[in-house]
Amino acid sequence: MTLLMGIETSCDETACAIVRDGKEILSNIVSSQINVHTLYGGVVPEVASRIHVENISAVIEEALNTAKVTMDDIDAIAYTQGPGLVGSLHVGVQAAKTLAFAWNKPLLPINHMTGHIYANAFVADLQFPLMALVVSGGHSELVWMQNDWDFKVLGTTFDDAIGEAYDKVARVLGLGYPGGPVMDKMAKEGKPHYHLPTPKTAGEYDFSFSGLKSAVLQLIEREKKQGNEINVADVAYAFQETALGSMVGKTVAAVRAYQPKMLVLAGGVAANSRLRQMITEAMNEIEGTQLVIPPMYCCTDNAAMIAAAGYTAYRHQAFGSFRDAADPGLLMPGENQSFFHNN
Ligand code: KG4
Ligand code: ZN
Repeated sequence: MTLLMGIETSCDETACAIVRDGKEILSNIVSSQINVHTLYGGVVPEVASRIHVENISAVIEEALNTAKVTMDDIDAIAYTQGPGLVGSLHVGVQAAKTLAFAWNKPLLPINHMTGHIYANAFVADLQFPLMALVVSGGHSELVWMQNDWDFKVLGTTFDDAIGEAYDKVARVLGLGYPGGPVMDKMAKEGKPHYHLPTPKTAGEYDFSFSGLKSAVLQLIEREKKQGNEINVADVAYAFQETALGSMVGKTVAAVRAYQPKMLVLAGGVAANSRLRQMITEAMNEIEGTQLVIPPMYCCTDNAAMIAAAGYTAYRHQAFGSFRDAADPGLLMPGENQSFFHNN
């Protein structure tokens, strides 16, 4: 039996979880700062780090109490090393190192995006080769995993991440922060009324969302100039259908080409109801690849997913040291920066 603590502070959630054998969640405490950042229309990094400092000790204590364990029972501490906001990450890194030093526990530095992928281990036994569509506020990536703990990025975005595009378009439409969940809801009431151009990319499996975001801005300006009232639900519908349609199309093409045993969704945008519907319908047409959609509780940021990835890191003996620091641009294990530029 392996009992891991996970710590996650990469953006605006202060989170700590206790997970047994990478599958059984004994506690999963998430303290969200969304109420504060909503006042500013987005995450304010300096404010985020200060709130992490205020909350981290209480969140860790609650995770241990809820799980009915003490630090003595913990085998290792998995924490998010990056990517994310440097000040926010730093708080989690320091908390993990302090606990590791005081209780003499090994450290497991974890890439946040691998955490999103391994969140799927809570609902399915991961089968390899596996393809992951990782979609969050900071990332839009198609990741290929030939084996467990083996990552290769097949495609990525060189401009906005999809969650970021959702948040920016929502802001322009006056829907507040975070925009994704509201846009998801609004789009359900929308009709096919506006036309937006399909995003273009250089790479076959790459994504791009900033052109689409600009097209929404231009559409709004044009309608205003012509004295037309903007139908917010229809704009949300057009944006969502175009963005998701393009992304799902590329994902399905990659699945057909690579034929993984499993396709998993990962990251905050995996909570989107239309994406879940589109990908389910598309994958019904394809034999031999099992689709796994994570439940809502492990789509957006949490620490259980960091402990789940940590369990795999633990089995691979991928321990860190006290010299490790927060890394806002951290790549996935084995991922080579040159891969982006050469392929
Ligand atoms: O994974 P996550 O919690 O944080 C990052 O690692 O970035 O993802 C947050 C992102 C935000 O951009 C948020 O707007 C988006 O996920 N999101 C959604 C939905 N729920 C959250 N986007 C579209 N539809 C949703 N239902
Ligand atoms: Zn995330």
